[in-house]
Amino acid sequence: MTAQVIDGKAMGAIIEKGLTDEAKAMEKRGRAPHLVVVIVGDDAASHVYVRNKQRACERIGIKSTRYDLPSTSNPSDLIDLVDNLNKDVGVDGILVQSPLPAGFDEISITEMIDPKKDVDGFHPVNLGRIVTGKVDGLLPCTPSAVIHMLESTGERLAGKKALVVGRSRIVGMPTALLLAQKGVDATVTISHSRSSDLQGLCLDSDIIVAAVGRPGMIKSDWVKSGAIVIDVGINRIETEGGSKLVGDVEKGASDRASWMTPVPGGVGPMTIAMLMRNTIRAAGDEV
Ligand code: GUN
Repeated sequence: MTAQVIDGKAMGAIIEKGLTDEAKAMEKRGRAPHLVVVIVGDDAASHVYVRNKQRACERIGIKSTRYDLPSTSNPSDLIDLVDNLNKDVGVDGILVQSPLPAGFDEISITEMIDPKKDVDGFHPVNLGRIVTGKVDGLLPCTPSAVIHMLESTGERLAGKKALVVGRSRIVGMPTALLLAQKGVDATVTISHSRSSDLQGLCLDSDIIVAAVGRPGMIKSDWVKSGAIVIDVGINRIETEGGSKLVGDVEKGASDRASWMTPVPGGVGPMTIAMLMRNTIRAAGDEV
């Protein structure tokens, strides 16, 4: 079996097209949606991600403003900035790029962003809503992307055994909650660094969502024949000629899976599309 490709780039482009029309209509009615992205320090990968988010804003017609704070800045500088952005009625969405440098408390910064402007969907109010079954608000972007991509296959997800590898607050945990939601109805297992027999868990799963950030950690022969594989990992590895991006799942898994996301061009572009959707939702006061 050779897996069919779940093309995140193409899916993201279709979603962006719809959002472009919405952004235009909003601008006509008053002003364009406005996303503010804050980056602290000089983590190279974060700068690439932030640039990609700003480019998506440009494509869609969302105004974007970027604040670059030096890694030497004081946590109180970031707190003051977020406080001002919360109060600014001309700002619809606030995103503080993670990871923050040592000395910054990411959780407390996340908790101080106005939940209505929390386009990352990381605020406890927005994460908590998922538990109550409310899934039309500001959902975390990568987990929403994962669900969209699974649903795009047209395969029946209800009753399927889904394994989420990784339990981060940004990806693993909320993805598990969305998979178990009424309407998706998967039977979910969360595995993590202390789980025993990961190979056995994988081999027993109809759906694998890999989100550990370790290149090729899930081996090709751990994938059950016909399983759907969503690879959230984006890992840069050195090669003879330079470097390249690889996922958390060995590429050879596509010989066993029925559907699989590529890296790059899979979950990454869809995550950005979900961020753009959240920004439009926040601007439309739909949350
Ligand atoms: N760092 C890596 N992914 C993300 C994300 O989705 N949002 C934020 N704020 N930081 C990140």
